[in-house]
Amino acid sequence: MADFDLVVRGGTVATASDTFTADIGINGETIVAMGSDLEAGKNEIDARGMLVMPGGVDSHCHVEQKSSSGVMCADDFYSGTVSAAFGGTTTIIPFAAQHKGDSLIDVVREYHEAADPKAVIDYAFHLILSDPREEVLRDELPGLIDMGYSSFKVYLTYDLLKLDDGEMLDVLSLARKEGALVMVHAENHEVIKWLTERLLAGGYGEPKYHAISHPRIAEGEATHRAIALAELLDTPLLIVHVSSPDAIHEIREAKTRGLKIYGETCPQYLFLTAKDLDRDGMEGAKYCCSPPPRDEASQEAVWQGLVNGTFDVFSSDHAPYRFDESGKLSGGPNATFKQIANGVPGLELRLPLLFSEGVLKGRLNLNQFVELTSTRAAKLYGLHPRKGTIAIGADADLAIWDPDLTVTVTDEMMHDNVGYTPYAGRTLTGWPVTVLSRGRVVVQDSELKVERGSGKFLACERSAAAAPLGRLVPEMDPATNFGANIERWS
Ligand code: URP
Ligand code: ZN
Ligand code: ZN
Repeated sequence: MADFDLVVRGGTVATASDTFTADIGINGETIVAMGSDLEAGKNEIDARGMLVMPGGVDSHCHVEQKSSSGVMCADDFYSGTVSAAFGGTTTIIPFAAQHKGDSLIDVVREYHEAADPKAVIDYAFHLILSDPREEVLRDELPGLIDMGYSSFKVYLTYDLLKLDDGEMLDVLSLARKEGALVMVHAENHEVIKWLTERLLAGGYGEPKYHAISHPRIAEGEATHRAIALAELLDTPLLIVHVSSPDAIHEIREAKTRGLKIYGETCPQYLFLTAKDLDRDGMEGAKYCCSPPPRDEASQEAVWQGLVNGTFDVFSSDHAPYRFDESGKLSGGPNATFKQIANGVPGLELRLPLLFSEGVLKGRLNLNQFVELTSTRAAKLYGLHPRKGTIAIGADADLAIWDPDLTVTVTDEMMHDNVGYTPYAGRTLTGWPVTVLSRGRVVVQDSELKVERGSGKFLACERSAAAAPLGRLVPEMDPATNFGANIERWS
């Protein structure tokens, strides 16, 4: 009688802290043993010569979501999760997105109706709060946080999404009280609006002007302001999809002062530049995302931020739009940059890109790679230790990598529904060849092995990362520190 349902044998196991050779014993959905020479399992996977890492946790992706201007994502919860799984990701945290006037409870129900029958890997939801009116904050949000929707994204730009500073303070103060984590899209709306109006009035509407209308100064300013508001209320804050040295500097400086400010970046800021937006004809539309890819110096600053811990997480910000009238060109074949749907796909290649260019080129070690792509996200969003690590008691979510497999990326090999990848033509070394989710083989021999709807919803706990410091930031005088007196004065 075999002791285990499945043994993954003899692989080089890498977690966020250690690298070692071990057999992994799995019963049901859970890792139950690690050691050398484990008893035989009912099933065995020979992982000798392979790397065994926790499945990726992609904590920023847009799936089956309608943008604020009404354009639908190309991926539903089937194609999005299949694509993620083929790239070694076993948990996604997409958004349940509120539009103005929506009830948050209704929004969450609708996203479950979309996801539950289709997802092939596990998923949680962040909320997008675009209408933090009093009754939403008072009557809906606290209950949703209790039910496992314990993080939400807010925007400082986009006409139909942006919050003003007062609304941002309302959201931060609610998050502080309820133990939720706020994520912010930090770009200065007025700067973008002003530049956009002038560029369009001058007839400068091609995709490359998207990057010019979203300058690094707009990102740096809004990042500084968002951090200032968070500091005022002693509330942790995560700055999403950071692209510029200015914003990186703000996050670094806040961390140095001991604030609980977290940073996220994405593949597009390492591997694309504003020059990609200047490709022939409308091709550049494929590369329009916000913030935009910038220059080589910015790419270098982003690498440095990954290496030195300024960034906590490396997510995809997968925002999939087809290169046709259903997506990127919904504003017509000659749409101006303001009409082009924002976003690039990245769920499938997030891990292979960072492994090949980060680990194999010696910029990151394996443990940093695991931390940035899996463990830290699980911790920040209240899914650890069930997700994000390889340990006894954790879900058996494993990506088994062939570190020597070399692949030249093509549009056709992607499993999403986008039709192109910005990374086509790149040759990458290292690939997740077998992927397990809760002990189930999801991907093996380039084939999907599970049914639609077999992924499970994950309720996120309140995370320690979202707890206020509860102490004064050193420079501040207690008598004049609203944050320190927040319980008394509000
Ligand atoms: O361009 C992007 N990133 N689009 C997706 C929406 C967002 O702001 O994350
Ligand atoms: Zn955003
Ligand atoms: Zn996004």
